Amino acid sequence: MSKGRFISFEGIDGAGKSTHIARVADWFRTRGADVQWSREPGGTPLAETLRELVLGRPMGSLTELLLIFAGRRDHVETVIAPALQAGKTLLCDRFTDASFAYQGGGRGLPPSVLDTLADWVQAGPEGVVEPELTLWFDLPAEQAAARRASAREADRIEQLDLDFFERVRAGYAARAAQAPQRIVRVDASGSIEDVWAQVQAVLAARYPELRPC
Ligand code: TYD
Repeated sequence: MSKGRFISFEGIDGAGKSTHIARVADWFRTRGADVQWSREPGGTPLAETLRELVLGRPMGSLTELLLIFAGRRDHVETVIAPALQAGKTLLCDRFTDASFAYQGGGRGLPPSVLDTLADWVQAGPEGVVEPELTLWFDLPAEQAAARRASAREADRIEQLDLDFFERVRAGYAARAAQAPQRIVRVDASGSIEDVWAQVQAVLAARYPELRPC
């Protein structure tokens, strides 16, 4: 068993998870944890190169999936597993649930293919590398699109239509139903402070042994 903590953050684009990842990092740091941040697609030099291709170049759905999982394998082997072995608290902006939601729910790729890739790619030296907690920032696709429009220019995936993002959202809901202990839904439709209050409540309940120091 690894000594660290692996926590992932999920949700459709525009759900506001970046703000909360930074706050969660501070929450753990002030409680004495050695925090490391990472993201997917990406997280290693090779996987960041694959990210640029995935988000920038036209390609088929299966190609997209395979490139994302190739990057994930490199990330698991060279960053995530070593960080957990070193006892770090690894906060990851998206992980495999995003593939089930976007490539499975959104693009319609079969769950059996995703399950097989996840089994292979998440196999680590000390067993399966999997988040112990996943915070899923959930809000309607329409509201997320409005937030994105005011915040930044859209990449290849963000340009997809509302129907796509509603399927992604349903993909997250299905994953959460399968892993209710690990995946905690946060209602991301309110203000930043509203959402942060929910996140803090989840952390306090999960990690009662941690106290500010
Ligand atoms: P995101 O973290 O939202 O990056 P940014 O906030 O900088 O735009 O993620 C980039 C995109 O990658 C996002 O649209 C979701 C997509 N994605 C997948 O389609 N499948 C995956 O497995 C992962 C990890 C991400």
